Amino acid sequence: MINNNKRKAINWNNINNTFYEVLFTKQSEQYWLPQEIPVNDDKLCFELLDKNIKETYEYILSGLTLLDTEQTVGITYIAQNVDNLFQKSILGLFSGFESIHAKSYSQIFQTLCSTKRIDELFDWIESNGALQKKVKHIIAKYQNINNDDDLFIAMVGSLCLEGICFYSGFYLPLLLAGEGKMVKSGEIINLILRDEMLHTKGIGFFAQEELKKYNKDKQEYLKEEAKKLIMEVYNIEKNYTEVLYEKLHHMIDDVIVYVKYNVNYTLECLGLNKEFNVSEVDVNPIVMNGYSTETKIHDFFSTKGNGYIKTTKVEELDDDVFDV
Ligand SMILES: [Fe+2]
Ligand SMILES: [Fe+2]
Repeated sequence: MINNNKRKAINWNNINNTFYEVLFTKQSEQYWLPQEIPVNDDKLCFELLDKNIKETYEYILSGLTLLDTEQTVGITYIAQNVDNLFQKSILGLFSGFESIHAKSYSQIFQTLCSTKRIDELFDWIESNGALQKKVKHIIAKYQNINNDDDLFIAMVGSLCLEGICFYSGFYLPLLLAGEGKMVKSGEIINLILRDEMLHTKGIGFFAQEELKKYNKDKQEYLKEEAKKLIMEVYNIEKNYTEVLYEKLHHMIDDVIVYVKYNVNYTLECLGLNKEFNVSEVDVNPIVMNGYSTETKIHDFFSTKGNGYIKTTKVEELDDDVFDV
């Protein structure tokens, strides 16, 4: 927990672990904006999608919007409570990306859906009990940081959000993009996925650093608590998957395998053993290929992903921009 007696400035010339530098650099290099991806190219494809796939796709994007909206501020609860200034800085940087993620779904909605439909989807976000439950379960951990144990558990909650809660949603867009459908929207999902993977690794590392502050017995106790929370989140996510894919019932088992694979990955990021006997080969290969972000072209100075073109021309701001 933070000590407020003396205000200290961050000194990047004196880092105690090079992984902080790696996280900061990697996240900065991954900078992207949704308006630079031509989602319009997906418009015709979206109209031709099967009705149930189309509806599920819309609900998926809606659920993901809520997660990124909450995580934009949620991650800062942890940033406020850690005393390590590098962790604080990196979490602040991550938060900015959550904000970009949340906006990127609106970019897709605006291109593909009518205003009336967008309003219906945002009502669905508020009325869907399974979705609300999974977000509130994590938020409760963020809002209950009173000591170091709570801070560790809040980090695990954040790790769950980053490493588990997005993946039922990522499944269908990755599958469709792999089949050549909704490719540009899929590319946005891929860029988000790449950020979330970095966040999972980063927050997992911070949580492990936190654990080192305790003696062996307390470490074991907290690891058990962490595992308990991860399995709670898995069960909530499983339930949400069943609700989300109600109209695509045949996919539910496959989505849950993908979620289990990500639960294992999340446990690994925390230095814990896998829970499920599921590995890469058990996940749908098309989805798995979408997950392998390393296979995409990511050149910081020209393109990111298959269609991402970095903005090189930045318009100057006129005074009248600020007139409302
Ligand atoms: Fe995000
Ligand atoms: Fe994230």
